[in-house]
Amino acid sequence: MRILGIETSCDETGVAIYDDERGLLADRLYSQVKLHADYGGVVPELASRDHVRKTVPLIQAAMAQAGLTPKDIDGVAYTAGPGLIGALLVGATIGRSLAMAWNVPAVAVHHMEGHLLAPMLEDNPPAFPFVALLVSGGHTQLISVTGIGQYQLLGESIDDAAGEAFDKTAKLLGLDYPGGPMLSKMAQSGSADRFTFPRPMTDRPGLDFSFSGLKTYAANTVRQSGDDEQTKADIARAFEDAVVDTLAIKCRRALDQTGFTRLVMAGGVSANRTLRKKLAEMMAARGGEVFYARPEFCTDNGAMIAYAGMVRLKAGEHADLPVIVRPRWPLEELPQVSAG
Ligand code: KG4
Ligand code: ZN
Repeated sequence: MRILGIETSCDETGVAIYDDERGLLADRLYSQVKLHADYGGVVPELASRDHVRKTVPLIQAAMAQAGLTPKDIDGVAYTAGPGLIGALLVGATIGRSLAMAWNVPAVAVHHMEGHLLAPMLEDNPPAFPFVALLVSGGHTQLISVTGIGQYQLLGESIDDAAGEAFDKTAKLLGLDYPGGPMLSKMAQSGSADRFTFPRPMTDRPGLDFSFSGLKTYAANTVRQSGDDEQTKADIARAFEDAVVDTLAIKCRRALDQTGFTRLVMAGGVSANRTLRKKLAEMMAARGGEVFYARPEFCTDNGAMIAYAGMVRLKAGEHADLPVIVRPRWPLEELPQVSAG
């Protein structure tokens, strides 16, 4: 079975073709980062228009890369939410229309389920059950995963998502949008001993997060200590250490609470090297295992949508003709799939 996957929920156009026997046959990505950089964040209307320009050419490029024609495609998966409504509508409309024209089923994929399943694209995929740490630009969630579509929310951010906190703090340090990866790079030349930022909500029980206070803490530190390059690097380091430590503390708690021995991390922030290292060390010390996707499959991409779509198509799911997208869509509302 070969599935075309289309991702347009935010500021990347991702297209991929996944074959359930041969794996990934094609994978194309166009990032709109430059388009939005001048505005310091994603401008939804510009994002939608750019998806209109890029999606069809990317599909053509993916088909050429895989050496396939439409008759080789058995289904079309598109991201139907959560995300920006106009951006979602572009991929959903194109995906639904192609499926109709090619006379194959279409399937509406949940963006966060795509992220959650992305580590399954790697050589050593995680077995169920596991705790999933979903850390993206819009979400920070801990989830108990006992099967596909068997998701129980254990905790989430009550304000900014981890990626959002990275981006806002990066902006404060003078870095362009999306500053997360650049802040992380800057932190490498920062000192771990100069500043210590708080670990929010770790002094009380529970698995929720709060990251908005950290950017205020960073702003106050800049005000008191200046913004020369070394100070900025030291602040970046203190900020990153605080986020990573906080995530690790809550992951440990979630593992203790569920009794699970596997931890899966997914979403843009799971590309963060310090976080990957910290959680790998933590899981090794506990005698458990950590799983994450290669960095390009941590951030938004078409491969994770093709994969999640394939799993759901195999389970008999398909989207009807009306194009429906959901800017907000709780992961827990997804139906259960019995066979992984
Ligand atoms: O999953 P994603 O690509 O898009 C959403 O679904 O939101 O996540 C994007 C987020 C951004 O906030 C970006 O700054 C952050 O992930 N990010 C990182 C790193 N790479 C991406 N944050 C910290 N360190 C990184 N290496
Ligand atoms: Zn995402």
